[in-house]
Amino acid sequence: MMSQARMFALKVIMATSLCCFVLSVGAQDTDPSEVGALRAIRGRLVDPMKHLNWSKGDPCKSNWTGVLCFYGPLDDGHLHVQEILLLNMNLSGSLAPEIGQLSYMRILDFMWNKLSGNIPKEIGNIKSLELMLLNGNEFSGSLPEEFGFLPNLSRIQIDSNKLSGSLPKSFANLKEMRHIHLNNNSISGQIPPELHALPKLVHLLLDNNNLSGYLPEEFSMLPALEILQLDNNNFSGSLIPASYGNMSRLLKLSLRNCRLQGPVPDLSKIPELGYLDLSWNSLTGTIPSNRLSLNITTIILSNNQLNGSISRNFSGLPILQILSLENNLLTGSVPSNMWQNMTFNGTQRLILDFENNSLTNISGIPSPPANVTIMLQGNPVCGNANALNISQFCGFQDGEFTSHGSLTNSPSSSCPQSCLTIQFYEYVPTYPIPCFCAAPIKVGYRMKSPGFSNFLPYMEPLERFLANGLQLNRYQLYMDSFAWENGPRLMLNIKLYPDNFSIFNVSEILRIRDLFTGWHIPHNDVFGPFELLSFTLLGPYAYVIPTSQKSGLSRGSLAGILIGTIVGTITLSAAVSLLIKRRGAGYRHTPSRKRLLSRVQMKVDGVKGFNYKEMSLATNNFSDSAQVGQGGYGKVYRGNLADGSVVAIKRAQEDSLQGSKEFFTELELLSRLHHRNLVSLVGYCDEANEQVNTVRQSGMLSSIVDSRMGDYPSDCLEKFADLALKCCQHESEARPSITEVVRELEMIMHMISESDVTPSDTNTSFSSGGVTPVSSSSMPTGSASMISSSITSTITSTNGSDPLSGGVSSTIVPR
Ligand SMILES: *[C@@H]1O[C@H](CO)[C@@H](O)[C@H](O)[C@H]1NC(C)=O
Ligand SMILES: *[C@@H]1O[C@H](CO)[C@@H](O)[C@H](O)[C@H]1NC(C)=O
Ligand SMILES: *[C@@H]1O[C@H](CO)[C@@H](O)[C@H](O)[C@H]1NC(C)=O
Ligand SMILES: *[C@@H]1O[C@H](CO)[C@@H](O)[C@H](O)[C@H]1NC(C)=O
Ligand SMILES: *[C@@H]1O[C@H](CO)[C@@H](O)[C@H](O)[C@H]1NC(C)=O
Ligand SMILES: *[C@@H]1O[C@H](CO)[C@@H](O)[C@H](O)[C@H]1NC(C)=O
Ligand SMILES: *[C@@H]1O[C@H](CO)[C@@H](O)[C@H](O)[C@H]1NC(C)=O
Ligand SMILES: *[C@@H]1O[C@H](CO)[C@@H](O)[C@H](O)[C@H]1NC(C)=O
Ligand SMILES: *[C@@H]1O[C@H](CO)[C@@H](O)[C@H](O)[C@H]1NC(C)=O
Ligand SMILES: *[C@@H]1O[C@H](CO)[C@@H](O)[C@H](O)[C@H]1NC(C)=O
Ligand SMILES: *[C@@H]1O[C@H](CO)[C@@H](O)[C@H](O)[C@H]1NC(C)=O
Ligand SMILES: *[C@@H]1O[C@H](CO)[C@@H](O)[C@H](O)[C@H]1NC(C)=O
Repeated sequence: MMSQARMFALKVIMATSLCCFVLSVGAQDTDPSEVGALRAIRGRLVDPMKHLNWSKGDPCKSNWTGVLCFYGPLDDGHLHVQEILLLNMNLSGSLAPEIGQLSYMRILDFMWNKLSGNIPKEIGNIKSLELMLLNGNEFSGSLPEEFGFLPNLSRIQIDSNKLSGSLPKSFANLKEMRHIHLNNNSISGQIPPELHALPKLVHLLLDNNNLSGYLPEEFSMLPALEILQLDNNNFSGSLIPASYGNMSRLLKLSLRNCRLQGPVPDLSKIPELGYLDLSWNSLTGTIPSNRLSLNITTIILSNNQLNGSISRNFSGLPILQILSLENNLLTGSVPSNMWQNMTFNGTQRLILDFENNSLTNISGIPSPPANVTIMLQGNPVCGNANALNISQFCGFQDGEFTSHGSLTNSPSSSCPQSCLTIQFYEYVPTYPIPCFCAAPIKVGYRMKSPGFSNFLPYMEPLERFLANGLQLNRYQLYMDSFAWENGPRLMLNIKLYPDNFSIFNVSEILRIRDLFTGWHIPHNDVFGPFELLSFTLLGPYAYVIPTSQKSGLSRGSLAGILIGTIVGTITLSAAVSLLIKRRGAGYRHTPSRKRLLSRVQMKVDGVKGFNYKEMSLATNNFSDSAQVGQGGYGKVYRGNLADGSVVAIKRAQEDSLQGSKEFFTELELLSRLHHRNLVSLVGYCDEANEQVNTVRQSGMLSSIVDSRMGDYPSDCLEKFADLALKCCQHESEARPSITEVVRELEMIMHMISESDVTPSDTNTSFSSGGVTPVSSSSMPTGSASMISSSITSTITSTNGSDPLSGGVSSTIVPR
C-alpha cells in the first residue's frame, strides 16, 4: 500500500491536474453546424499562400486563422463564431452559401482578397451581423434583397468589386445602417428614394458605378448624412435637387461627372459644408452668391457651363484650399483680394483656378503671397492691356497640391548603427528619448473621402486624431508616407511603435488591430471614412495570428475560469515538485508481461522511456549540485538530456514507492496533460528499482486561465473545488488517498456529459513552442506555505487582465 507520508504532493498533482484535465474535457465545442459551415467555406476558398489553418481541431479552440469566437459558450452550451477576419490573404475562389449558418457572427471581413462569384444571399440569415466587409474583391452579380433585413447591420462595404444590378429597395429597412460603401462597382438603375428613411446613415459612397435616373430629392431628409459621394455615374439630365441645400449635417457633397444639368443649388445654409465638387457636369446658370460655410476647404465647379461673374463671397473663407472654376463660361472681372484676410500658416496654400473662362478684367495688380496660386490662362484678360502686369498668372501654373510624399526624417544618422542591424527594428523618429530602437507595426490606411484637398495642413491633426483614437502616445505613431489616389482618396503608410519596450505585446497588437478592423476609432468629420488596407506583422510579430477571443463572457464560463485559476495555480506549484519515486527494497520483482504492455502503451502515447543511466548522466549521478528541490516524497533534480533540453527529474524516495500499476496510471494520466501552464511529461524511467519521471515546464502560470474553458454544471465545479481543497489539507491524514482522488474524479467525469473533445485537442492548442528551463525558484518543496507563496508570486508576475495576453506575450520578449 502507499504510505500516507509518501505523497502529499503526488496527491495534489493528481487531484489538481486532473481537475484541470477534467475541466478542459468539459469545455464546449463550436456549434457543429458552424463547424460544417466553416468547412464548406474552406472548401470553396483557394489559398495559394497557405494562410488558412482550418483543418485540425475545433475552430474556436485550435487557432483557426481569422476565426474569432465568443469567449465562452452561449446559452446553448456551444461556442460560436463571432468574427471572420481574413483581410488581405490572397484568397480566391468564392464564398460558400453555408456561411449563412454562422448565425451568431457579427463581423464578416474578407477585404482585399480575390474572391469572385455571387455574394451568397444566405448572409441575409445572419441576423446578428453588424459589419459586412467584402471590399476589394471580384464579387459579381447583384446585391441580394435579403441584406435589407439584417436588423443590426451598420456597415456594408463592398466597394471595389464587380457588382451589377440595382440597389435593393429593402436597404431602406436597415435602421442601424451608418455606412454604405458600394463605390467602384457596376451598380445600375435608380437610387431607391426609399433610402431616405435610414435614420443613422452617415456616409453614402456610390461613386464609380453606373447609376442612372434622378438624384432623389428625398435625400435631404436623411437626418445624419454627412458624406454624399456619387461621382462618375450617369444621372443623365437629372438636376441637383434644391432641397440638398437643407441638409443640416452635410460635410461633403461630391457629384463629379454625373451628367447632371440645371443650376447649382444654394448650399450656403449648410452650416459645416467642407467639400463641394460638382465638376464635369452640364450645370448652367450663375453661381449662387451667398457665402458658403466658413468650414469650406474645397470648391470645385469646373467643367460645366456656368455663366455670370465670380461671386465676391468666395473671399473671406478662412481655410479655403482650392476654388476651381475652370472650363466654364464665366465673365466679368477676376477677384484680386480674396486671400486678403487669410493667414497662411506653414503648409497652408490657396489655389484659384479660373482658366478657360471669359474673364475680361482685373481690378488692380494682384500681389498674392507665395502660398497663393492664381491661374488665368485661357481668359481674355490675358490678352488685353493688362497682360503684362499679370503675365505671371497667364502662363503655365502648378495648381497641384503635393500629391505624395515620403515623410521620413530618420534620426539614425546620429545614432549607433546597432539597432539597424537587427532586421525589422529601427529608430523611432518621434520618440522622446533619442535613438530608441523598436519594431514597428505597419498599417496601410486609406481615407476614402477626405474633406480637404491639401493634406499637409491636416497631417498633424490626423496624427493626433489617430494616436488618440488608438489610445497611443503621440510619439508612438508616425506617418511614413502618403499618396493621393483616384477618388480622390488618400493612402497613408503609418508606423506604430511600442511605448517603453522594443516590441508590442500580443494583447496590445490585438487591441490595436481590433480598433482598426472594428472601426472603433471615433468617427471624424473632416477625415471622413477610412479603410484598413493592411496590418503588417513582420519580424517579431510574424507569428501573431488573429485569434483573440473576446467579449461575450457568459456567467458559467466565468465560474469555470475562476476555479481553473485556483486549481491551476496549485497545480503548477505541485507539478514541478512531483515525480520521482524509487522502489522500496522489499518490493522487487521482475517485469511482468502486464508491465511490458503498459510500457508499450506509454510509448504509443508519446512519452519516452529512459534508462537509469541516462537519468544518472543527466543529473551528474544525482549529484547534490543538481538538486533543486526536496519534499517528503523524494528529490527533484535539474537535468540536461542528451538532446540539450533542460528537464526536471523527480526521483522517488525509497519508502514512497508505488506499485507499477499505479505508477503507470499516474504516467498515463500525466501524459495526457498538455498545457502550457503545466509541466509536461517528457519521459519516465522504471528500471533498477527506480521510478523516475521527467518533466519540463512549458509556460507561464498566468495562462493557466484557460480562456476556452466553458460552462460546467455547477455541482461538478463544486466537487472539483472540494477535491482540490481536500488535497491541500495541512494534515496529511486529512488528505484523500490517490485511489479516492481518482474515484472521485471519475465520478465527476461521468457527471459531465459525454464530449468528443480529447484533452490534447484542448490543451495543446496553447502550447508555446519554446521550452522554458525549470528554474529552481519555481520549485517549491511541497510544503503548504511554499505553495501559497508560489501562488502569490506567480499571480503578481502576470500583468494585464486579458487572459490571452500574459502567457503569449512572454514568448516574444526580446532575447
Ligand atoms: C496551424 O495549426 C497547427 C496545429 O493545429 C500549428 O501547429 C501550426 O503552427 C498552425 N499554423 C499557423 C500558420 O498558424
Ligand atoms: C499575395 O501575393 C503576392 C504575389 O503573389 C505576394 O507578393 C504577397 O506577399 C501576398 N500577400 C500575402 C499577405 O500573402
Ligand atoms: C442587435 O443588437 C442589440 C444591441 O446590441 C442586441 O441586443 C440584439 O440581440 C442584436 N440582435 C441580433 C439579432 O443579434
Ligand atoms: C450602364 O447601364 C446602362 C443601362 O442603364 C447599360 O446600357 C450599360 O451597358 C451600363 N454600362 C456599364 C459599363 O455597365
Ligand atoms: C447615360 O445614360 C443615357 C440615358 O440614360 C444613355 O443614353 C447614355 O449612353 C449613358 N451613358 C453612358 C456612358 O453609359
Ligand atoms: C428647406 O427646408 C425648409 C424648412 O424645412 C422648407 O421650408 C424649404 O421648402 C426647404 N427647401 C427645399 C428646397 O426643399
Ligand atoms: C467648422 O468650423 C468651426 C469653427 O472653426 C469648428 O468649430 C467646427 O469643428 C468645424 N466643423 C467641421 C466639420 O470641421
Ligand atoms: C477682410 O476683413 C475686413 C475687416 O473685417 C473687411 O472689411 C474686408 O472686406 C475683408 N476682405 C475680404 C476680401 O473679405
Ligand atoms: C495660423 O496660426 C495662428 C497662430 O499660430 C493661429 O492662431 C491660426 O488659427 C492659424 N490659422 C489657420 C488658418 O490655421
Ligand atoms: C506660406 O507663406 C508663409 C509666410 O508667408 C511661409 O512661411 C510659408 O513657407 C509659405 N508656404 C508655402 C508652401 O509656400
Ligand atoms: C476601382 O477599383 C480598381 C480595382 O480595385 C482600382 O484600380 C481603381 O483605382 C478603383 N477606382 C477608384 C476610383 O477607386
Ligand atoms: C495558438 O496561438 C498561440 C498564440 O498565437 C500559439 O502560441 C499556439 O501555438 C497556437 N496553437 C496552435 C495549435 O496553432
